[in-house]
Amino acid sequence: MNLDRRSVVAAGALLAASMPFAGLARAEIGPDHKAKIKGLIRQMTLAEKLGQMTQIPGGRQKALNSRLDATMLDRVRKGEVGSFLHVAGADALRELQRVAVEEGRLKIPLLFAMDVIHGFRTTLPVPIALASTWDPEAMKLAARTAAEEAWAAGLHWTFAPMVDIARDARWGRVVEGAGEDPYLGSRMAVAQVEGFQGGDLAKGRRVMACAKHFGAYGAAVGGRDYDSADVSERTLAEVNMPPFYAAARAGAGSFMTAFNDIAGVPTTGNADLVRHQLREQWGYQGLIVSDWNAVKELIAHGVAADQKEAAVLALKASVDMDMTSNSYAEHLGSAVAEDKSLLPLIDEAVERILTAKARLGLFDDPYGFGDPVAEKAVPAKNRPIARDLAKRAMVLLRNEGDVLPLRLGQKVVLIGALADDAMSTLGSWRARGQAEEAVTLRAALEQGNVITGYAPGVTTRSDDVSGIPAAVALAREADVVLLAIGEDYDFSGEARSYADIGLPGPQEALIAVLKATGKPIVAILMNGRPLGLEKDLAGIPAVLETWYLGLESGPAIAHVLTGEVSPGGKLPIGIPRHGGQTPMTYAHVPTGRPANADLLIDSARYHDTAIGPLFPFGHGLSYARFDYGAVTLGAEAVPANGSQTIGVTVTNSGKVAADEVVQLYIHDPVASVARPVKELRGFVRLSLKPGESRRVTFTLTPDQLAIWHAGKWLIEPGLIEVMVGSSSEDIRGKASFRVTGRGEGKHPAASIPTKFEVA
Ligand code: BGC
Repeated sequence: MNLDRRSVVAAGALLAASMPFAGLARAEIGPDHKAKIKGLIRQMTLAEKLGQMTQIPGGRQKALNSRLDATMLDRVRKGEVGSFLHVAGADALRELQRVAVEEGRLKIPLLFAMDVIHGFRTTLPVPIALASTWDPEAMKLAARTAAEEAWAAGLHWTFAPMVDIARDARWGRVVEGAGEDPYLGSRMAVAQVEGFQGGDLAKGRRVMACAKHFGAYGAAVGGRDYDSADVSERTLAEVNMPPFYAAARAGAGSFMTAFNDIAGVPTTGNADLVRHQLREQWGYQGLIVSDWNAVKELIAHGVAADQKEAAVLALKASVDMDMTSNSYAEHLGSAVAEDKSLLPLIDEAVERILTAKARLGLFDDPYGFGDPVAEKAVPAKNRPIARDLAKRAMVLLRNEGDVLPLRLGQKVVLIGALADDAMSTLGSWRARGQAEEAVTLRAALEQGNVITGYAPGVTTRSDDVSGIPAAVALAREADVVLLAIGEDYDFSGEARSYADIGLPGPQEALIAVLKATGKPIVAILMNGRPLGLEKDLAGIPAVLETWYLGLESGPAIAHVLTGEVSPGGKLPIGIPRHGGQTPMTYAHVPTGRPANADLLIDSARYHDTAIGPLFPFGHGLSYARFDYGAVTLGAEAVPANGSQTIGVTVTNSGKVAADEVVQLYIHDPVASVARPVKELRGFVRLSLKPGESRRVTFTLTPDQLAIWHAGKWLIEPGLIEVMVGSSSEDIRGKASFRVTGRGEGKHPAASIPTKFEVA
């Protein structure tokens, strides 16, 4: 894998060449396919059309294909199914496809879908960890690696990327996304779409991507999965929508609508948002699928009296395919009998589904996916990729007194059940990942003779504290204690919201007694969400965030601990001090009474918690040190249709080769509405040798500063501050310039990629 500085420079050059959106050209289907699809729609009965619009589970997540019995094959022959999910396997899917295209009346191929989120067989780091690389090329490589293995297993379609913005650590699905920021989220969305789909959906070992969960799924109130979102129009447009917009522009073949509602309108039945905005305003022509049972759940939401009304609402919203609820298949027939104006909407939906099948090349070769030999022999190249991605993903949060890297001759011990928990290395959504193929931290450190002993101490799931004395005895003998703490994999993921985001089980008790030994502790966090650990981490000199790093978790962490590689990841979401601070973002708007350290002054803060996060968005330390030169601007003023260059020289003044993510933030200090105190608008991950300097030049355009005002992206004249730094709170240089006129942007400001050059 070549993820060194050269590839970063090349990526910059590529972006420079193709502004404003560097994504895939939208692969349209040719006139022959269009004519074929029109012809098929003319021949189809209403029931066959509704069949195409129906997605059925062919199994369960943990028992793929288990429902593919004779009755199901009969349904396929009768044209009652357009797509299956929770299926996999080259041979099984080839046979299923054969029934569709050889025994079905119209010989329409099926679409096979699965949640392939972070690797298929070779489990890669979870998405929040991949986002911590701040390296879209790394994210793209992860998606491509997952796609190749999924393709070999006969799959056409993955329900990824999840591009929901997550600012509430209580929400369990933080683990599946790219964090809190719409600019970083947009870059990571594009990278995944490109990685999954390849250059052409009709060729190669690729799968169709699905940007999910359209709407504001990540903004669920209280961080409770499935719950309502009540976001303002501006926040929706400026924060939640940009990654979806970027994914659509990158050619994402499909979108999934969210389970939840925004201000009382469930997205699956939201014609304003889906049909009007996504389809008509954004011009999105891809396939839109509901989330699992979400069409029927419109009844529970209280916007449909029965399944027929629910189906009509979703159809009118432009949801083409009903995932699992059978509402379309069972109820649109009678709805059409009452209201013929629904028929053209059905035809459009079928056309889009068949177009997706054509884009994937399935009308030309329905067996073009799957390779039983490749499926069994997982490509040897993928393990090293998993390890490299894991190494790039770790974030060093604290390193007082340079406790890390470990030094030769030190007596090091390892404590914590998570260090030996192979299942947890896989994180949520395992696809075909096998825990027994994972290398845990314990195994890697024992193999490398890094540790002299191991004790689990306590676990995350029981109150049993009987292992604590052995752990303390072990710690007493050591020079350094490595302590794996956090949550096991099953604390995060769908329906895994927690009110308390402290440490589960008796881990706090374990930490307290280990601290009392006086030995230096390195806390190795394993978790799918930010945890509120200010008190637990107090007095612990070194903290390494590892999330869940996949099959090569152990060796990758060992490399960072021993200093073979310097950590270079940055937080894609801030880590609170305490769960009570959530939801939280670095990009908050200022108040009339900004947070003040003096508690005697009434200000926007909590009395019982210090101001701000424990570790801010963009934070991540290194074994090297980076010096930033002065920030220089290309011009003092730019017109609304102009552009501004922002340059900075970054030097590795440390003793080891290491990576630094140079971050560009903007702030509009006086505008018609209060603007966030900082907003990310550019970044680049550099690899620098000791003593090496690189000059980074970002080019920003005023449409990237535009404000959402009643349906328009307005560029306002006035002062703009730019900040360049190593994290959202470690700003190393500032400058400001004027935008001299008014203008109007065409795209969501945060979705627009910032051109950069590295010299
Ligand atoms: C999840 C989706 C997922 C779908 C299919 C739903 O419960 O919300 O993210 O793609 O199931 O497995």
